[in-house]
Amino acid sequence: MATIPELFSAQVPRYTSYPTAPHFHDGVNGTVYRDWLARLNPDEPLSLYLHIPFCDTLCFFCGCHTSVVNHYGPVRDYCRLLEREIALVAPMPAWLPVQHIHWGGGSPTLLEPDDIARLTAAIHTAFDIRPDAEFAVEVDPRGLSRETVQALAKGGLTRASIGVQDCNIEVQRAINRLQTKEQTITAMEMLRAAGVASINLDLIYGLPKQTLPGWQQTLDFVAQLEPDRVAVFGYAHVPKFKKHQALIPQSLLPGLDERFRMAELARNFLSGCGYVPIGMDHYAKPGDSLAQALESGALARNFQGYTADPARTLIGLGASSIGSLPQGYVQNVANVPAYRALLAENKLPVARGFRLGKVDRIYREIIETLMCTLKVDLDTVARRYGVSKAIFADAMKILEPMRIEGLVSVEGNQILMEKAWPSAVRLAASAFDQYLPRNSAAHSSSI
Ligand SMILES: C[S@@+](CC[C@H](N)C(=O)[O-])C[C@H]1O[C@@H](n2cnc3c(N)ncnc32)[C@H](O)[C@@H]1O
Ligand code: SF4
Repeated sequence: MATIPELFSAQVPRYTSYPTAPHFHDGVNGTVYRDWLARLNPDEPLSLYLHIPFCDTLCFFCGCHTSVVNHYGPVRDYCRLLEREIALVAPMPAWLPVQHIHWGGGSPTLLEPDDIARLTAAIHTAFDIRPDAEFAVEVDPRGLSRETVQALAKGGLTRASIGVQDCNIEVQRAINRLQTKEQTITAMEMLRAAGVASINLDLIYGLPKQTLPGWQQTLDFVAQLEPDRVAVFGYAHVPKFKKHQALIPQSLLPGLDERFRMAELARNFLSGCGYVPIGMDHYAKPGDSLAQALESGALARNFQGYTADPARTLIGLGASSIGSLPQGYVQNVANVPAYRALLAENKLPVARGFRLGKVDRIYREIIETLMCTLKVDLDTVARRYGVSKAIFADAMKILEPMRIEGLVSVEGNQILMEKAWPSAVRLAASAFDQYLPRNSAAHSSSI
């Protein structure tokens, strides 16, 4: 029977969708997407995700779809393409209502104020943006200007997510991301002064040269700033897919045991500071909408991670963006020239996607529930879909070593993550993944 280190050495997805993106295929194309869009319920609010795949410099750890630009020309050109895509997606049955907007990347904060204004205007022309809509943006604090913050605030910015990662200079050198504490503090001050009510800080454990005492100092710094949320991601090291990550030598990376200790230190420390743990890697102040969503059972998971956004439809805009509709998932082409070429022909720039079948929906619900609440009642899911619990027999067999090692408990029809092991939830979720090749090396370490 597998030991705990053996179990954690399995490489499993982060389940920001199910099935996960590697299983999308080109059977879902622009024509299928157009049909799905036409069937959206015009009375049901949806969400928008807009991707800016550019950064000023490349952090060696980065797992996002982005590239470095040395001058602004390609970014401006890309913004015009985005405007075109927004207008193309929009002719739907009606002027659809939008409750949540998220700009991610890459670094949306490298956009010039004029482009921020043009993109927000394009979105407001194409959709019915509700007056109380949430507008969240991912922020690189290095070089963030007051003009950028003001342009975003004018566009209705309500939430900002700032990348911090780690404050230690040795770690920062090893990841090619030099960022002073003052840069983080100034970014927070500017955003708060501009009226942005909610601020999240991103941290990563498992980075090269990280030590437990250094990690504690990063946590101390973050706690002093009193952000509304903190995301504590485990570093996903997949140099096979993200070639630049090979610039981080394996020998500098903390081992599984240290990764576990860092995750545990963050959980204990942030809980001690009054933050509510959300799922496997988020922390929120008790009054924050994420903590409230967890309490009310409304917490969800999408491509941006944990969310309080209840929308069933997320429209992805921009190269590589993934959208989620009641029928399934769609992903745009990742390569900007290909994105430009499709838009030039007035085609939706879809590369692939996935149409959800009934069985997919069953496992999707189990995986999302587990990832969000760290427990799931199989009986409830089986009854909702009118299937026998017997279909879960194989998954239960895969879970058995985790139960024996005390990572999960099984009480009747309920599967619960053990209190000390929330970070094992990806592993437990993977037992229900019908598409995961067992013993695959395609994902990152599960802790
Ligand atoms: C797209 S970045 C946006 C923030 C902005 N570009 C910045 O870096 O400040 C979103 C977050 O993803 C996380 N991230 C990126 N690559 C990662 C990886 N390989 N493993 C774990 N987290 C990662 C980082 O914490 C980063 O802040
Ligand atoms: S972590 Fe942020 S700033 Fe660094 S390369 Fe990735 S997207 Fe760009």
